[in-house]
Amino acid sequence: MKQIVILASGSGSNAENIISYFKENPLAKVSAVFTNKKTAKVLERCDRLEVPAFYFNKTAFTNSDSVVQLLKSLSPDIIVLAGFLWKVPSNIIAAFPNQIINIHPALLPKYGGKGMYGAKVHQAVKENAETETGITIHYVNEHYDEGAIIFQAKTSVEPSDDANTIAEKVHQLEYEHFPKVIAKLLL
Ligand code: GAR
Repeated sequence: MKQIVILASGSGSNAENIISYFKENPLAKVSAVFTNKKTAKVLERCDRLEVPAFYFNKTAFTNSDSVVQLLKSLSPDIIVLAGFLWKVPSNIIAAFPNQIINIHPALLPKYGGKGMYGAKVHQAVKENAETETGITIHYVNEHYDEGAIIFQAKTSVEPSDDANTIAEKVHQLEYEHFPKVIAKLLL
């Protein structure tokens, strides 16, 4: 069975969706969730779903090998960033070449880069009166949101939409596609 490790910084609804999907799919399982936020709701979800969770601080992540060593000890086949907001340092990228993927809540290369995450993305989409938005699943490299694109899906943005309804539409796309894309990459 393949091993998935998830990194998440916040609510973790995508993490939960991926954990649940692979509870029903013998191809893989989520063996651990890592977070950089002690109060992240994803930790409550991991408790309920009985998935081990690890917290690390910025020093452990960016100025030491401790996170890399912990990740290596789990032998993940894929590392999935699901609402993870820190830039991944080069020692982790080098240790897992082409094995780290991220989901971004917009159609990259639009609305990517430092500071573009979550609600900020949807507000910018609304302010620019875009008629469509979507999700991008991509490999992670040393630059925010710039790795090779694996998958995109679109949804319409209506004049009546606000940042909240755009977020809901994008989350639906994420729930539908992210686990399936992970499964395909693991085959
Ligand atoms: C998701 O929409 C994800 O695409 C986005 O954060 C949200 C996390 O929601 N990620 C980024 O903006 C990364 N730049 P969740 O915690 O409920 O899964």
